[in-house]
Amino acid sequence: MAERSNIRLRPTMLSDLDFVISVEQDERNRPFITPWERTQHEGAVRFPDFRHFIVEAGPTYGSTGFVILQGCRNPHRSVELKRIVLQTKGQGLGRACVRLLTQMAFRDLGAHRFWLDVKSLNERALALYRSEGFVEEGRLRDSVKTDDGFDSLIVMSMLESEYIARRDAKEKG
Ligand SMILES: CC(C)(COP(=O)(O)OP(=O)(O)OC[C@H]1O[C@@H](n2cnc3c(N)ncnc32)[C@H](O)[C@@H]1OP(=O)(O)O)[C@@H](O)C(=O)NCCC(=O)NCCS
Repeated sequence: MAERSNIRLRPTMLSDLDFVISVEQDERNRPFITPWERTQHEGAVRFPDFRHFIVEAGPTYGSTGFVILQGCRNPHRSVELKRIVLQTKGQGLGRACVRLLTQMAFRDLGAHRFWLDVKSLNERALALYRSEGFVEEGRLRDSVKTDDGFDSLIVMSMLESEYIARRDAKEKG
């Protein structure tokens, strides 16, 4: 179990997948992700290259979303933040979650590079990742189909040295 003051991550169980799929299918989230089949989530729960977590928050630590890391056994030490979807938006849980996952990637999983892609229309997620120190690497132009055309994916990453520099700067205050 990984935990910050107001949020914690626990490993997803197969019995959580109805919840996971309902969050993914929610129309507030669908425009920003490419929903998976249940079998893909089952694979991510079972295969050691993935970490699939339920995000719990609030006074009673109710389930508010889920996150997936991929590449946890990657020989290049390049771990991907594959998915983050939270039902409670705009209350700082996304930031707390990204901090927890970044710490997990570098400290626990030994990542050298922690990366993700995000749709260019997803201003909220882009602002969050930028402000948490992710650097834009490039754009996969028109790589995802939308209802009315195509959108580009922006690839972002943080390197271990950048994580350490940010962590040390925070500790110095
Ligand atoms: C993206 C997501 C994980 C962010 O989590 P969140 O809890 O809503 O975000 P936070 O409250 O921590 O806000 C983080 C930052 O996002 C930015 N932000 C928040 N709402 C925003 C909005 N409506 N427009 C633009 N930026 C916004 C702000 O910079 C904010 O930081 P600040 O409040 O300190 O200024 C969440 O909204 C979500 O699940 N969205 C749907 C699925 C999704 O887009 N997943 C990411 C795919 S890459």
